[in-house]
Order: sequence, then C-alpha cells, then structure tokens
Amino acid sequence: MRVIGLFCAFVGSLPATANSFVPSTSHGSTNLPTNNEGTIKMTSDSNIEPVYAAKTVSAFDKYKKEHAQSIKSPSKYWGKLAREVLDWEVPFDSHRVLQGDLTNGDVRWFSGGKLNVAYNALDRHDPKKLAMIWEGDEPDDVRRITYGEMTNKVSQIANALKAKGVKKGQVVTIYMPMIPELAMTMLACARIGAVHSVVFAGFSSDALGSRIQAANSEVVVTADHGLRGSKRIPLKDIVNAAVEHVKDKDLVKHVLVWERNYEGPESEAPYEMNSNDVRMDILVDDQRPYCPPEPMEAEENLFILYTSGSTGLPKGLVHTTGGYALYAAHTTKTTFDLAPDDIFACVADCGWITGHSYVVYGPLLNGATTFMFESTPVYPDEGRYWDMVQRHKITQFYTAPTAIRLLMRYGEEAVQKYDLSSLKVLGTVGEPINPEAWRWYYEVVGKSKCTIVDTYWQTETGGHIVTNIPGVTPMKPGSCTLPFYGIDAVVLDPADGHVVEPDENGKAEGVMAVRQPWPGMARTCLGDHARYKTVYLKPYPGYYFTGDSVMRDEEGNHFIIGRVDDIINVSGHRIGTAEVESALVAHPAVAQAAVVGRPHDLKGQSIAAFCMLRKGYEESPELLTELKMNVRHEVGAFCSPDLIVVSPTLPMTRSGKIMRRILRKIVCGETDSLGDISTLADPSIVDTLIEKVGKK
Ligand code: WT7
Repeated sequence: MRVIGLFCAFVGSLPATANSFVPSTSHGSTNLPTNNEGTIKMTSDSNIEPVYAAKTVSAFDKYKKEHAQSIKSPSKYWGKLAREVLDWEVPFDSHRVLQGDLTNGDVRWFSGGKLNVAYNALDRHDPKKLAMIWEGDEPDDVRRITYGEMTNKVSQIANALKAKGVKKGQVVTIYMPMIPELAMTMLACARIGAVHSVVFAGFSSDALGSRIQAANSEVVVTADHGLRGSKRIPLKDIVNAAVEHVKDKDLVKHVLVWERNYEGPESEAPYEMNSNDVRMDILVDDQRPYCPPEPMEAEENLFILYTSGSTGLPKGLVHTTGGYALYAAHTTKTTFDLAPDDIFACVADCGWITGHSYVVYGPLLNGATTFMFESTPVYPDEGRYWDMVQRHKITQFYTAPTAIRLLMRYGEEAVQKYDLSSLKVLGTVGEPINPEAWRWYYEVVGKSKCTIVDTYWQTETGGHIVTNIPGVTPMKPGSCTLPFYGIDAVVLDPADGHVVEPDENGKAEGVMAVRQPWPGMARTCLGDHARYKTVYLKPYPGYYFTGDSVMRDEEGNHFIIGRVDDIINVSGHRIGTAEVESALVAHPAVAQAAVVGRPHDLKGQSIAAFCMLRKGYEESPELLTELKMNVRHEVGAFCSPDLIVVSPTLPMTRSGKIMRRILRKIVCGETDSLGDISTLADPSIVDTLIEKVGKK
C-alpha cells in the first residue's frame, strides 16, 4: 500500500530515545500531576529533570476510562459538559442531546436549547479582565481590550450591522486584516444571529467574489488596508474588484470599511469609496453600546467557512451554534491545559478554522486572555515570536510546523535571547510535524519543560479530534497520538471500508475515520447537503471520512501520513487542485492542466503544475510568469505554483482521466516505482515528463 512507503520515509529518522513520554505542565496550573514515570533523554548531552509523574499513570488511566465512557454514552458526556461550560437561555432537552447519525447525515446536538455564543464569549466574564492582547505589524503597536470594553464594542458593531439591514440568518462576508475589529465583527454577527463567512485576506478578488456569490452575501466587511511586514495590502481595492466580479450585480448592498489606524492625510488614503460603502468607525461610534444577544437554537448556523476540495468550487462548511461552541471551548481548555490567568497565543489567521476556534471562540468562551497577532514570524526579525512571548508572558503558544521549520533555520540564538519561562504548552497544527522540528520546538523553545501538543483536526471537525493532552496522555514526536474525548477514531481499509485490526506488530494502517458524531462537526455544506454526504459520509457508510491516511502504532498513537485525495497542503493551507487548475486553464494558452503536490523543506508541500498548451502557443519565460500571475489573480498568491512544466500531452487513461498518481511520482523523483503505466493512452509521455522535470 502506498501509505507504507511514505510513512517509513517520515518516521525513519525518529530518535531511538524519543519514546512516549508525558511531561506535565511546568506550572502545574490545574489538576495536572507532575513527576515521573520514566526518564526522558532527548539528546545525549541533555540533563533533563524527570518530569513524568508516577501520578501520570493514573492520569493516563483516567483518560482511558473517560474516553471509553465518552464513546459509550456520548449524550451523557456531552450533555453534562454543555450544562457546565455554556450558559443557556433555554435549556436543551435532556432526552435530545444527540439525534440523528452519520449514516443519514442528520446529526443534531442539544435540541430545544437556545443560547447566544457572543453572550457566552463576552458578557458573562469579568468585565475588568483582559479579553485580548493584540500586537500589530509593528511590535510597539499593542492594544489591550477588557471583556467589558469588548462587550460594548461588539454590541455597537452588532447595532451597526442591524442599521445596515443585516438580519438573523443572513451571511456577512468578512475580508479583513488580523486586527481586533475582525474578531469583534465575527462576534457581532454571532450576537445578532447573522452567519459570518470569513475569507482569508490572502485570497484574490476573484476568489473572494465567488465566495460572496456562493453564500449570497449582501454585506461585506473589510478594512482600508492590511499590513504585513510593513507592506500595505490594499484590501478595499481588492473588495471593489471582487464586487465587480460577483455575477449577481445587485447582490452586494453594502461594503463596510474599517480603518486600520490610518494616520496619514486623508488625500493619501488610497482607496475608493462607492456610494453604498460605509465608514465603519464612524457608523459604529454612533451606536449604543448595548445590543440584546439573539437567542439562537443550538442547531442554527453560527458561521460558514469555505475550504477547498479536490473538485469544484470550495465548499462552504456550516458550523452550528451549540455544538461548535462547546467543542471549541472544551478542546481549548483541555488540550492547552488552560488556566484562568493564562495568556493564550494562537498565531493563526482568522481566515482559517484555527483562528476561529483558537484565537476567537475557544479562548473567549473560557474567559481567558487571547493574544492576536497581525504580522509574520520574521518581522522585524526572526525573534518576533519569542520577543512577544517574553513581553506578554504568553503561556500557550500555537503555530504550524512550517513556521517552526522556518525559524529553525535561523539557529538557536534568536530564541535564546529571550526569557520564555512563562510558556507551558506549545501547540502545532496543520500537517504532520517532522521529528527534527518537534525536537527543536521541545528543546530550544520549550527548554524540555513544556508539553508539545500535536493537534490533528480539520475545518470540518471544528476542533481537535486527535491530540495528546498535557500531563494526561503521552507525547510522541511526529504523532498526534490519541483521540480526544468523544472521538471514536477508527482506521479503515480504504478498499472495502472494514475496520483494520492491528497486525502482528500491533500496527494498523488505512484511512482515518470517526465512527460517531461529535458536537463540533460541520453539519452540511451551505446549500449543498448532497455534496457533504458524498464527500464525508458516503465513502464509508456509518463513518465520517477525514480524507487522510494514517498509521496507528501498537500503543494506539496515530501518525497522519497525508491526504488520500487531491488536496495539497502548502504551509498548512489546504489547496484544492481544481481551483489552481481552473486558474491555469483560464489562460488562453492552456488547453489542460494538472496540479500535484511536491515535497518542500519549509512548506511541507509546494505546487507543481503540468500544462498542455493549445495549438499556436509555445513555452517561454513570459508565458510561465503569466501562468503564475493567473493563479495569483484567480485564487491568491499563496497558491502560486513553484514549478510549471509545459508538456505536449498529460498522462491520461484511454478514457481521458488524468493520472495524477504518475505526475506525483515524477515530481517526487520516485520514477523507479511508477507502477502500472500500461493503461495510459500514450505511455511514452512518461519519459518525456521525467526528462522535463529533471531539467527544471
Ligand atoms: C488537514 C486539514 C485544522 C486546522 C488547520 C488545517 C492536515 C491538520 C494535522 C496534524 C497531521 C494534520 C490533515 C487534515 N492536518 N493537522 N496535527 N498532523 N496532519 O485545517 O485546512 O481543514 O486541513 O490538515 O491532512 O486533513 P484544514
């Protein structure tokens, strides 16, 4: 099976000494045990205090018991938590905690219950406590916002949205830089029952336009510009172009424009306001700082978030109110061992699910202080993250392997300059973390005292579904380890869908699936429930299918190997082949295109594109640049291919299906294991392509 080869390549370098181990949090902040069940020796010269607990064994046993119970009686487990963790306006019906199932695709949680997520995230917490510390592009641009201030501001924004005609159930598209107003606009939507659709501000105007159209969104909220690494990104101009691109010309009624602390002269603020555009700062200032939170049914929509699939337009995944809120809150608290005075920093962008669950909803629902970051890990220099940890005394820090690999390259000095003793838990997400990066994160950043949590999840899952838990379950470099509470994780045989039993070595390999609904799972794709069922529920009836392949070891630890579909993971961003291919084919020179992922040291994967040209066109450096520009325009710069190969034809079966498997092998240099190529219409194309790629 293909997964085996890949898996060996990935863990072949695991250090022999890096067995499972359970450092607890260094501060013992909650009920976590400290001390020891064994010795950790990550490196020969390390002199690490043993940080496993004898008590840890019992914590681990407790996890096993609780996990088993949460699977056996999900209604009991989640029903109890839902009452403890959230404030309900109308209590849910105890007999209807969970209804529906994965076979029918009609899952509902907490029926009969009503609540408001913004109320739960803001009003009920101590108004004097810090809700957010925000650091802008420049390190001295810092804002501190209390729960009281945020409740008032969110209420004002909610009233501003209402004043512009936004009603419960309507979709508001948000295309904004990472400023507090982004989080507050999301919460303002939640307060009035509008459904937010945040589009990552790296997407192009075309991509934004098609998402506005697909969601039938009448209101778009943006900012005049964004700032990243001192570069100005003209967001309002991009929105103007996107609105032009929307097919239904009367759809967008208002564009609401925040000002990102623009201090220059008005005449130099280089963006155009149209007649129905509104200056958000002015409108919001005029509103009352009180807005009653709209009681929402547990199953009513909280937000949608577009994510790429392997075919067609991106899917608007729908997350609902009660289940998502509970899952975001509970995973934040548990996975990060969150304590009341923690400063929790997730440096993901709110344009992705990580920002939704772990910058905004999870930390605020817990009444913690969330840290929001606008800039990049290397601006003004490569010490930026660690400088922030020191200055703000950050306790949890959550980033992606690609950022860790990037920072590793600058060496240890950039980290050692700073006092990182506030850190307790370091998180990683987005792709498998290679053991070298894991060890660097653990030893250099965490000083071998912090727990690394490798959190595996997806836009669709709402929150972590497989992860270790500080002081409770063991860490294992390169593995996201064990299922979260309530997650009935199974390994399925990709061919016939049966549950794979451990082999003689206790290992099981196959595709990753979940056997039972959990509260945080997306319920549908906006306007296309059939697609939701086709992609997630039908491939293996009775299971939620993740699309990832996995190896589970003899201790039950999961090692995610990669996608089994055509989704490419570039720097932790999920990119659909279909979107990039259609951007290439949109160029008049391109007759057909096929895009595959290629291993990349920093990004995990990069994009390699194969293009077949129309008659009359020839390869030239200008053409290659134009093709890259097309992808930037139609999707976004972060999707730009690193390699474009112009090819006389593409490897196709006689029935015309492009065999991406072969292209993948060619770009990975695995040409001695191409497999069966006899089904190709023209097998000789393979040698031509190998030669062409070799020259690049
Ligand atoms: C895909 C989901 C979840 C937020 C970020 C990405 C991969 C995610 C891990 C991990 C191995 C991981 C999977 C998954 N992935 N986390 N800890 N170890 N792989 O969200 O864009 O929905 O992508 O990212 O392939 O299916 P997303």
